[in-house]
Amino acid sequence: MKALVIGTGGREHALALALSRDPGVGEVHVAPGNPGVAPFAERHEVDPLDGEAVAALAVSLGAELVVVGPEAPLVAGVADAVRAAGIACFGPSREAAQLEGSKAFAKQIMAAAEVPTAMAHVCETREEVEAALDAFGAPYVVKDDALAAGKGVVVTDDRDEAVEHALACGRVVIEEFLDGPEVSLFAITDGETVLPLQPAQDFKRALDGDEGPNTGGMGAYTPLPWAPDDLVEEVARRVLQPTVDEMARRGTPFAGLLYAGLALTSRGVRVVEFNARFGDPETQALMALLRTPLSALLRGAATGTLAEVGLPQWADGAAVTVVLSSAGYPASSRSGDVITGVDAADAIEGVDVIHAGTGLDDEGRLVTAGGRVLAVTAVGDDLAQARERAYAGVAEIGFDGAQHRTDIALAASQGE
Ligand code: AMP
Ligand code: GLY
Repeated sequence: MKALVIGTGGREHALALALSRDPGVGEVHVAPGNPGVAPFAERHEVDPLDGEAVAALAVSLGAELVVVGPEAPLVAGVADAVRAAGIACFGPSREAAQLEGSKAFAKQIMAAAEVPTAMAHVCETREEVEAALDAFGAPYVVKDDALAAGKGVVVTDDRDEAVEHALACGRVVIEEFLDGPEVSLFAITDGETVLPLQPAQDFKRALDGDEGPNTGGMGAYTPLPWAPDDLVEEVARRVLQPTVDEMARRGTPFAGLLYAGLALTSRGVRVVEFNARFGDPETQALMALLRTPLSALLRGAATGTLAEVGLPQWADGAAVTVVLSSAGYPASSRSGDVITGVDAADAIEGVDVIHAGTGLDDEGRLVTAGGRVLAVTAVGDDLAQARERAYAGVAEIGFDGAQHRTDIALAASQGE
């Protein structure tokens, strides 16, 4: 099979790498991709937001499966355009992607499907905002209704800051604060059958100890030794299946990757957010352990035949991903800094260096080209070994202004 992955980041690199190692896949193409995929995939130029252009590229390549990685093209209807051209596409329709595209829509679906989530109010005026903030009390949680690349959410004890963020966004969702650890649970679905993946955890804050601003994600690990044994079963039954069923009932079936961001609160599991695509960087860690051929899962979801595929199988052991970001991230980012040491890191046993925001300069040198630059991913017999290898990889890599967290998977590897 010929597969085409759309996107540029670490998630797309990890998915393309998994497809390249899948015996069912003959050729992997990535558009636009990044320099990291060059050893195993062919790159093509395309505007990922232009559905007609993506569909035309897929037709010209003879692609049999297109995988749309990021949320913006999904919300823009790129998967619909590919399907209209008669090619199987992994990724929800424009309408179904509203589960991520509008937080208010996601809340409506959860209410209709009786999915446990934070109580919330949708607000558009200062009066509504202030009333909602005072009804819930501090800490205040204010979310931009629209897509904001992981930066639309403010959690603060400062009421003035909460009001200011709300007014800057326009339409917001204000909700009750959820305590407890967060879990990312992904499911692959064809709109009917739901196959959960192994749980993972993401580190959203920029600095060690969960300090600093929210980012797209600074690291991840899987599995979660501390998670309750029945977590996947419970989330499948109370969250994933009811959501997929509600979308189907409305005539807008959700087929693709349903990402449930969960808080395990003292009062039980609550959904923090839904995303309509693989999470980044959790996908890098998950793909490192997935044993079921990825193409079978993605094609099953894209063609409504997932029931024939069966539950995903996983390697024993653990995987850890540590993100290296560029100077200034997440407020800004710096491009053009020369990166060294990637090959040395890649040569460490169990390590794959996944590119997230890299480019080539005029002299063909690898340089930074975005906020999150690299995601060093390692597998090991357990979290401690995977961590050790990932950080050994990080230590090999250098570029001006490089930043990373030093505590990815630390507590879990110590049995906490
Ligand atoms: P979201 O984009 O909705 O995932 O929010 C980004 C991050 O903000 C989450 O991963 C949480 O750490 C935090 N967050 C979002 N909603 C809540 C909430 N209701 N209570 C506490 N923290 C939240
Ligand atoms: N890791 C968080 C996200 O992909 O949204």
